Amino acid sequence: MSKQITGFSKLTKEEKITWLANQFFTDKKQGIATLKSYWNSNEKLQKLHDDFIENTLSNFYFPYAVAPNFVINGKDYTIPMAIEESSVVAAAALVAKFWSTRGGFKTKVISTTKIGQVHFMFSGNESDLVAYFNSIKSELFEVTNNITKNMRNRGGGILDIELRNKTSDLNNYYQLHVTFETKDSMGANFINTCLEAIANHFKETETLDIQIVMSILSNYVPDCLVRAEVSCKVEELYKEDAAHYTQKFINALAIANAEPHRAVTHNKGIMNGIDAVVIATGNDFRAVEAGVHAYAARTGKYQSLSGAKIENNIFYFWLEIPLSLGTVGGLTKLHPLAKLSLEILQKPTAKELMEIVAVVGLAQNFAALRALTTTGIQKGHMKMHLGNIIKQLTTDEKEVAYLLEYFKNKPVSHSAVVAEFDKIKA
Ligand code: MEV
Repeated sequence: MSKQITGFSKLTKEEKITWLANQFFTDKKQGIATLKSYWNSNEKLQKLHDDFIENTLSNFYFPYAVAPNFVINGKDYTIPMAIEESSVVAAAALVAKFWSTRGGFKTKVISTTKIGQVHFMFSGNESDLVAYFNSIKSELFEVTNNITKNMRNRGGGILDIELRNKTSDLNNYYQLHVTFETKDSMGANFINTCLEAIANHFKETETLDIQIVMSILSNYVPDCLVRAEVSCKVEELYKEDAAHYTQKFINALAIANAEPHRAVTHNKGIMNGIDAVVIATGNDFRAVEAGVHAYAARTGKYQSLSGAKIENNIFYFWLEIPLSLGTVGGLTKLHPLAKLSLEILQKPTAKELMEIVAVVGLAQNFAALRALTTTGIQKGHMKMHLGNIIKQLTTDEKEVAYLLEYFKNKPVSHSAVVAEFDKIKA
């Protein structure tokens, strides 16, 4: 039986759910009930979420948590995080507390430039194209004047428009490479609107055959860069064998730089923290992910985003990443929880948010490397995992305490916990 349908988007929400249930659900009643159990009883709020995307049927919840006790450039922060992975927030909170007594995190925004490109094909004489571009360049700024007015008032706008010859990469391929400053907004809509206006004017020539292919921002933002760092004396890093474990930590970073398989997992751990804050603040985590991983491969080899060294017995650990974030516009305004997250973060500018997000990435990486090079991560993971399994079985305090004690030094698996629980119930 075909599972194709035309006009799906025109059906009501109820009709869409019924169609879905008829097509795919094993237990229709249960499936429909599950979808509806995630509807928000506040109809206005539900409508808001319905309208974010097309064909909304329900809501998909992520736990929303906070990690307190971060000290960043001497200021206290409690950081909201939206993530499903059990150990991430616990690790962030632990590391925040750890560094709060060792000078806290230091951060610096290195640059804030974003990039958009008008990609076009041109098979004529390059010098004619250059002459045409130079003759029209000021008009390319002028045609965006209306669009950029508010942004210019806020100190942003188009910084430069360059003509780039890309024919060594692809026959007849040129681009207008446009750099932007978008202040507190992520600026995707602003950049794309400017680029389309620029492209429309640029192609209006009777003498040259310019074929615009597309106009779009780039999510690769190596010049929208932030650095976060921590440092302390080597002996302050571990309770015992500090020099030995610090060296292991440094070796773990060297391995991530030498070995792309390890680098990807290493950076994934960093993104655990970054994505959680990016999502909680209503920012575009796909854009951040794409840009960050491209940056990790900028030398031609995929490497660690973080670095560490020991100098004069001081341990330094840092992270440098490109982050294109906004604290105004987009979902940051529309999503009530995103708005609240920014309030929890004391209404940061985009630059401050870049710093906060980088800090959580660094904290996450610190937690992962510290665990991996000492006890291994499974101990901590399994403790959380055990807690989650027990929660599904019982809330009886005595039973919970018994199971926690029983599995203290035993391997945890869902079936083992269920078996032990069944035994105490027998
Ligand atoms: C798990 O989500 C993240 C880690 O694998 C990161 C790492 O290995 O560095 C623990």
